[in-house]
Amino acid sequence: MSILQILKYPDKRLHNFAKPVLNVDYEIQQLADDMAETMYEASGIGLAATQVNEPVRVVVIDVSDSRDELLVLINPEVYFEKGVISSEEGCLSVPNVYDQVERAEDIKVRALDRAGQIIDFEATGILSICIQHEIDHLDGKVFVEYLSRLKQDRIVKKLKKRQEINDG
Ligand code: NI
Repeated sequence: MSILQILKYPDKRLHNFAKPVLNVDYEIQQLADDMAETMYEASGIGLAATQVNEPVRVVVIDVSDSRDELLVLINPEVYFEKGVISSEEGCLSVPNVYDQVERAEDIKVRALDRAGQIIDFEATGILSICIQHEIDHLDGKVFVEYLSRLKQDRIVKKLKKRQEINDG
């Protein structure tokens, strides 16, 4: 397994629309494993393949405190949603930025798991929020795009400044 590089906002590649996975083969499983390792190493609760510059519909999620409940979702689709929940979101591609975003509170999801088997389940609370956030990534959307134009401009400025400092 290996740690992958996470693209940072406002990298244009974060806007790529990810293609469906046709075959859950060894290559896809290896990508999912590398993404999981990358997510755990970065202490994140979710990571979409788009964020590691692989525009395919694969996400990894672990919202557990114990960090041992890995969920691999391939071609995930929300087919039912109910209610509204607002929470403070963050993203490994937008370091040190957190803001309120509204999402559906309860959802029903269909996806393939790491073995290529169909899974169908309900999600609520943080898991529901995380799944919607990651599916957005697959559609080329970053959570800050729900914020006002003014806030987005500030975030871009802040991140660019920090990248310049990091680049020396
Ligand atoms: Ni994210």
